[in-house]
Amino acid sequence: MSTPKPQATPVDPNKPRPPRKAPSAAGRYLFLFLLGLVIGIVAVVMLLRSLESRKTWQDHYPHAAMQLMSAHTAQLYQKLEANRCAATDVLPHLQALRTLGNDLDPAFPDLRDNSRFSGHTGSFRGTLDKALASPPMNCAGLKSTLDDIGRDCKACHTDFRG
Ligand code: HEC
Repeated sequence: MSTPKPQATPVDPNKPRPPRKAPSAAGRYLFLFLLGLVIGIVAVVMLLRSLESRKTWQDHYPHAAMQLMSAHTAQLYQKLEANRCAATDVLPHLQALRTLGNDLDPAFPDLRDNSRFSGHTGSFRGTLDKALASPPMNCAGLKSTLDDIGRDCKACHTDFRG
């Protein structure tokens, strides 16, 4: 004799459904809070994008110049670490840094008339003129050139980088 299988209780279609629970106030506030948060984030992102797109080349110039100087200095440090200090490895970066030295005054129009600032730009260009006139012949030479360049970066930043 087989035991009868348990039967699923049949749903009586005539039986009224239990009434739905009224939505809680806390749930509604949470929903509104999250909605407001999302709308707020979208609005802030749109605002920031529109402010960014209004920037002119003059606004980007100082950061662009500094980022490029930073990129060339970083590549020189990479060469030093990789022990690749031949003239062909280092000269292109020193030349780029020297050219960027000419961008310092036009990139910072508010500072160009400040004599301390022009002292720093002059010193930076002088360091690179010296390095190009007698390029480092080996890694020890590159190291000391990089020390000189780093000193110029730091001197100006100490005075003028907020
Ligand atoms: C003659 C002055 C001067 C010299 C030399 C100088 N800097 Fe700067 N640098 C500044 C100023 C001023 C700022 C701040 C710019 C700003 O926030 O508007 C700055 C900012 C920077 C920044 C941040 C850029 C950004 O996007 O906000 C980097 C990176 C930087 N410098 C790298 C260098 C390196 C590397 C050198 C040397 C190879 C160097 N700087 C030499 C004046 C100088």
